[in-house]
Amino acid sequence: MAPETSPAGPPSARGDLGLAGERAALARALAAWQSPSDALVTERPRFTGYPFTLGVASGAPLPSGAVLWTRLAPEPLNGGGVGADAVVVRWEVAEDELFGRVVQRGTVDALPARAHSVHVEVVGLDPARWYFYRFIAGDEVSPVGRTRTAPAVADVSPQLRFGLGSCQHFEHGYYAAHRHLNAEGLDLMVFVGDYIYEGPGRPDGVRRHTGGEARTLLGYRNRHAQYKTDPDLQRLHASVPWIVTWDDHEVDNNYAGTRSESLDPDFRRRRAAAYQAYFEHMPLRELARPTASRMVLRSRHNWGRLARFHVLDGRQRRTPQACPRPGRGGANMIDERCRELRAPGRTMLGAPQERWFNAGLGVAPERWNFIAQQTLMARAAVTVNGRRRFSSDAWDGYPAARDRLLGAIADDGLRSCVVLSGDAHTAYVCDLKRDFDDEQAPPIAAEFCGTSITSRGRAQSATDELVRENPHILHGDSARRGYVVFDVTPQRCTARLRVLGDATDRHTDVSTTATFAVDAGQPGAQRL
Ligand SMILES: [Fe+2]
Repeated sequence: MAPETSPAGPPSARGDLGLAGERAALARALAAWQSPSDALVTERPRFTGYPFTLGVASGAPLPSGAVLWTRLAPEPLNGGGVGADAVVVRWEVAEDELFGRVVQRGTVDALPARAHSVHVEVVGLDPARWYFYRFIAGDEVSPVGRTRTAPAVADVSPQLRFGLGSCQHFEHGYYAAHRHLNAEGLDLMVFVGDYIYEGPGRPDGVRRHTGGEARTLLGYRNRHAQYKTDPDLQRLHASVPWIVTWDDHEVDNNYAGTRSESLDPDFRRRRAAAYQAYFEHMPLRELARPTASRMVLRSRHNWGRLARFHVLDGRQRRTPQACPRPGRGGANMIDERCRELRAPGRTMLGAPQERWFNAGLGVAPERWNFIAQQTLMARAAVTVNGRRRFSSDAWDGYPAARDRLLGAIADDGLRSCVVLSGDAHTAYVCDLKRDFDDEQAPPIAAEFCGTSITSRGRAQSATDELVRENPHILHGDSARRGYVVFDVTPQRCTARLRVLGDATDRHTDVSTTATFAVDAGQPGAQRL
């Protein structure tokens, strides 16, 4: 069931949306098609408060458009508070912030079954330019959002600047990182998971989750809504388009496929609720709308001929982690004697996604390929009592799958490849190799793991030990929170590692702790 949008012809005066009767007829027709649940559609909703408390967002930019998102939620921490009726939402896209030059407008139904969220896939815009958008429901008008379209397909765009973020535990800090990202002059924001954390409210943070652990659709909706009430997060969503993927905490710590850490027999149902709430709160294309059993999150995004983003989902179809603790699922520090680890059929992405990834790689060898995904791809082993140990949850736990992925890049001769990752709460810069034991082996790609927006990291001494033992890890910083800003040109990709003074201080400053570059055609990262 697709939310219908109706582009409204040539620009006209604000509020001129045609005859009210036509709108009502359209709304009734849409309701009959979209709402088998008999939801009534109202154009004159009576809200208990301002309905746009979660702001607006855009994402998945194309040369001709983008996804525009909002959700009506006058009571964001209490299920939304709109009630059982569907609500007609008008949307407008303009060339100017005052909406004097509206270029597209239409209506969409915000349905109760979708938590009154809307995802408008606007098309027909011009490439490589900024637009402004807003939503109107009843007499209420949303904040104004800004988005931009991707360059035209054949355009060798001279420059792209994007931010990389992950892991924004609400209780561990304020979103000063988002405030600073908003001042970086980004074209695009890439977020690679742990957008929410599912755990119950705890007293030891700077702010507190509302409610217990998220397990139900209502619980996940309220948790997403609580995160989205943050003004700095809202502003970053409202100022640039986002490309997103998830990690584990959008559902449950260290889950793998349909297996939860606690081996919950009802986990499929919990996962479906979490996926539904994730879709409802992200600016994702209709293609990603979940069914009861799955959600297609993988996606590709081209930035002219300069760059292609391959967005991967390493959670939904992965083989469970190898050699778990007895009676448990989830992650573990395992050592290389774990025999299960070597099974060739183990997969991080699932076979269909591996095929899809491989098919999309070789199309444009001349451009940058950014692989946006969840967990650290470089080997990160420490030797304890003569045995090498590593996390079973990251790519170290899936060595055959990692080799297939790096092999596909090498076989296609893609020499301008950069992997983006999160999860580790550590800023890592790495050279990726097919044989990490061979110091002379040439790198196949560079990897940048953003630290975390807020989520606490481990002791720096442990990270220092890891860097010493793994020479392909060029940089490791787990002491500080922050993000990475990438400047991409046809010749070079430059990454600035930005760190916050103190993520528990809303007003904290930001600085650059290291800068690395990857030159086109020369895999691997160099410190500048
Ligand atoms: Fe995290």
